[in-house]
Amino acid sequence: MLVKGKHYLTVWMEGRTVYMIEQNLLPFQFRIFESPNYQTSCMTIRDMITRGAGAIGATAGFAMAQAALEAPKETYQAFIDHARKEIEATRPTAYNLFFVVEKVYEAACKSPEKAFEEAQRLAQENVDDGKKIGEFGNTLIKDGYRIETHCNAGWLGFVDYGSALSPIYLANRSGKKIHVWVDETRPRSQGARLTAWEMVNENVPFDIIPDNAGAHYMSKGMVDMMIVGADRIAANGDTANKIGTLEKAIAAKYYNVPFYIAAPCSTIDMNTKTGKDIPIEERSHDEVLYSNGPDKQGDFHTIMTCAPGSSAKNPAFDVTPAELITGIITNKGIIKPTIEEIKSLF
Ligand code: MRU
Repeated sequence: MLVKGKHYLTVWMEGRTVYMIEQNLLPFQFRIFESPNYQTSCMTIRDMITRGAGAIGATAGFAMAQAALEAPKETYQAFIDHARKEIEATRPTAYNLFFVVEKVYEAACKSPEKAFEEAQRLAQENVDDGKKIGEFGNTLIKDGYRIETHCNAGWLGFVDYGSALSPIYLANRSGKKIHVWVDETRPRSQGARLTAWEMVNENVPFDIIPDNAGAHYMSKGMVDMMIVGADRIAANGDTANKIGTLEKAIAAKYYNVPFYIAAPCSTIDMNTKTGKDIPIEERSHDEVLYSNGPDKQGDFHTIMTCAPGSSAKNPAFDVTPAELITGIITNKGIIKPTIEEIKSLF
């Protein structure tokens, strides 16, 4: 991704240090966070300094490699076993985390150097997959399309390119006239903060719309397609993504708006049979009750946005049943969300 003309990855590793874009500060400040050890990398995933299925996966892989590099020789195996458990406990829904950690752990069982190489290989694969998703997805986008998206499944949700936004960037770069409806995505506002920031960087025409406006625009015939990312796709095509995705998919079905999921094969969990088996993360109620941002001087503040004394619930994801999904744009091509077509990818 280009930030003010300079190329950045969302997360990368050099030596024993993991570097990442500090996503909690965007779009107000652009800062790189340096994580010196695997436990700090765990914290960055838990506290969403890095977030989005692909970026979580890459960071978790680097954390596993850091653990292997940090492990004392005498207690090597016990140290990496414990680290794996800690890394896997950071966030429960995004499958990329478990996919990458397993592979880097297996390499770590051979040597720390192999773990480092594997984590780097998987991070590069994440970049390549995003690029291919962009190429396949772009074939669905016609000149003049108005595309709605939810949450952030762009550069920042991966190592580069992204999933749902990768086709949009390619369409825009190839000269198609498109317009993007960016759902604000309460409570953390990944749409209004992160996707909107990416759109500005990429010069894509867009509007942020309130989370509850999607059905209204669909009813007016103002949405030609919807593309969202995925945190975990079950073997039958049911898909977990950011909370609010399900009601968009229901509205899209009602108004005959094609509803696409974009995700690499590393998001598909063949051991999870249906969406009912996908663990849904419950996050702090503070994310619902409070908001934060900078004042005119740039100092960050947290403010309450609800009635004092309120309690809140905060499920971070919901599951869209396969029957509401038009197709899944993967790095290996566009498929229907059926067990047969999903199996054919592997
Ligand atoms: O809680 P987040 O910000 O990690 O959730 C991100 C999403 O739900 C994205 O839509 C998803 O990861 C798709 S691809 C980055």
